[in-house]
Amino acid sequence: AQDRAVRPKSLGEYIGQPVAREQMEIFLAAAKGREEPLDHTLIFGPPGLGKTTLASIIANEMGVSLKTTSGPVLEKAGDIAALMTNLEPGDVLFIDEIHRLSPFVEEILYPAMEDYQLDIMIGEGPAARSIKLDLPPFTLVGATTRAGLLTSPLRDRFGIVQRLEFYGVEDLAVIVARSARILEIPMDDDGAREIARRSRGTPRIANRLLRRVRDYAEVKGDGMVNADIADRALDLLSVDAKGFDHLDRRLLLAMIEKFDGGPVGVDSLAAAISEERGTIEDVLEPFLIQQGYMIRTPRGRMVTRLAYQHFGVPMPGDERSAG
Ligand code: ADE
Repeated sequence: AQDRAVRPKSLGEYIGQPVAREQMEIFLAAAKGREEPLDHTLIFGPPGLGKTTLASIIANEMGVSLKTTSGPVLEKAGDIAALMTNLEPGDVLFIDEIHRLSPFVEEILYPAMEDYQLDIMIGEGPAARSIKLDLPPFTLVGATTRAGLLTSPLRDRFGIVQRLEFYGVEDLAVIVARSARILEIPMDDDGAREIARRSRGTPRIANRLLRRVRDYAEVKGDGMVNADIADRALDLLSVDAKGFDHLDRRLLLAMIEKFDGGPVGVDSLAAAISEERGTIEDVLEPFLIQQGYMIRTPRGRMVTRLAYQHFGVPMPGDERSAG
């Protein structure tokens, strides 16, 4: 909730994501120059990388209002119709978790996105009729964890598609230092780096860990966040040297200990660690795969040598035969 305070409000303050940032600078400048709304924009990537932040930056840079909703709360055609008829020209309508729209709502979106036309049925039975309304020109910004979750007709209606990547340690350290400045947390460069190294490439996690490290520094130290304080605080939070948390480790260890390193299907893994399949697919494995600790194969997920090394477990093929 307090994230609001540290969120960048303009592209100029936005750190990292060089590809998305450079593209958006151009598309925004061009749309502004033509005095047109920005094309509909799809933003995808793992949780916490700044999809909502980017949507609010788009609205800010265009000088328009942002109206926010999410896929699961839009149950009926009327829900989305009410939102769209309340837009001012050029406004940004942000739909988070856009892959979770009901088919009825999706049907309404197609003509709205293409022609700014609202096409809805009113009434039921013999008295039912369809009415068409003109909508103000607007920009739909949709966010989802994986682009593949969208139906292709919906995906095809976005003129701009941005994929957000995990942040590198350098960029995260700059983000942590910036947040500390805004929150007036005394911190040195090594403190920022230590938090950055252990934040799973994710600004939301970095900003959360920063607040917890501050707590630790204030109670166990003199308030100053340095590498040693950060290290001890993060150990206490069970965030390990690679930034893996309790769930990351449960997943990797289950693959090693219960499935001989894999390959194992994602549903079997979900059952083994009592988590939802979606949590594995959207939250856990994207980072573990990107860091090289596991891979996806046609026959299922497998851990890599790095995972065995991380836990100090010998890899099966590497064991010397006992003679
Ligand atoms: N806070 C969260 N994400 C950020 C980013 N990309 N740049 C600056 N501050 C951030």
